[in-house]
Amino acid sequence: MSSTYPPLTPPKRLLLGPGPSPVAPRVYEAMSKPIVGHLDPFFFQVNQEIHALLNYVWGTQNTFTMAISGTGSAGMETAVCNFVEPDSKFLVFANGFFSDRISEMGKRQGATVIRVEGTWGESISPDAAREAILRERPTVVGYVTAETSTGAWNPGKAICEAAHEVGALVLADCVTSLGTMPINLDETGIDVAFSCTQKGLSCPPGLSPITVSPRGVDYLKSKTTVNRSWYFDLKLLLEYYEGSHRYHHTAPISMFYALREGLALIHEEGLENRFARHKRNSEAFAAGAEALGMPMLVAAENRLWPLQTPQIPAGISDVAIRKRMMDATGIEILGGFGPLAGKIFRVGLMGEGSKRENVLLVLDALEVALRAEGYAPPASGVAAAAALL
Ligand SMILES: Cc1ncc(COP(=O)(O)O)c(C=O)c1O
Repeated sequence: MSSTYPPLTPPKRLLLGPGPSPVAPRVYEAMSKPIVGHLDPFFFQVNQEIHALLNYVWGTQNTFTMAISGTGSAGMETAVCNFVEPDSKFLVFANGFFSDRISEMGKRQGATVIRVEGTWGESISPDAAREAILRERPTVVGYVTAETSTGAWNPGKAICEAAHEVGALVLADCVTSLGTMPINLDETGIDVAFSCTQKGLSCPPGLSPITVSPRGVDYLKSKTTVNRSWYFDLKLLLEYYEGSHRYHHTAPISMFYALREGLALIHEEGLENRFARHKRNSEAFAAGAEALGMPMLVAAENRLWPLQTPQIPAGISDVAIRKRMMDATGIEILGGFGPLAGKIFRVGLMGEGSKRENVLLVLDALEVALRAEGYAPPASGVAAAAALL
């Protein structure tokens, strides 16, 4: 062990996996600015800007929007522990790793969890969703908008309409969709949505934005039970951030600076431009991967824009390819989970990472690694992608 500890020098990486994704230089700069106290008026001003900017990106007029201290799972836990009770019937659309996590959290709240099983890599069918909700008549419904474990998008409109018909609230995981794909929260009818900072918002991990519809706020106000979680109790958090500002916990100030800056960058770019950029780069990557002989797991119309899941050619080791890419170029991509382990790569082009040059870099690194492992691609991935960019 070294006897001196010089300043940290982390290795240079290009984060093109499912997250964390690259941090925007302006976000890093904001994080190095002097902190204020967690009761300082400047902090609450930053928080108000975050509220307004998050509403813009989510597409909502909600008055209840804030950032939970913690990663995306903290937002998920907050949504579940405030809206799912031991006497709740919690219906979860289960078609990936993260919907499994939502079901597990529901079980831990003591709720009756009804899992509507879907296929990993496919979207939830609106008709099947409606039928399941009308049949089960749950009190709360959970689903993942952008399933990062598979690369599939789940449309929410039919889920929300059916849920509201039976009086249920809808919780939606927007961890990978926020800032990368249109969510249109109010139009879709989502009641509680949560996200993270380390994917589409070009910040490090550390905060979990959350927003609650007026219907969700009414539920919170009418609730007579005391939340089993103190840290994630939205009533207490609202009092700190937007009410009397009474101390609740010491907010991680530098992360709030980061989030404010990441959101300001989205506002500057404009949502439509940002979504178009993600769509264009994801389509170019998919064309490149297919040229390399790696068909995409998800049908084109159901694919995410921030994350692609090409299938690994038979006989090629997921781990060996990723190690070669990392050693040669510092590019990080990841593999699949559960039933998709060893079968897909997960390639993220999100926020600051969704760039033409990154599409070409990752395809080139993939091709070099595949060739080194003895696989001969049928065509050039870079040329196929470049033709679309
Ligand atoms: C869809 C989805 N939900 C939840 C999470 C959990 O977020 P975190 O790892 O930030 O706690 C992730 C993380 O990748 C995710 O992709």
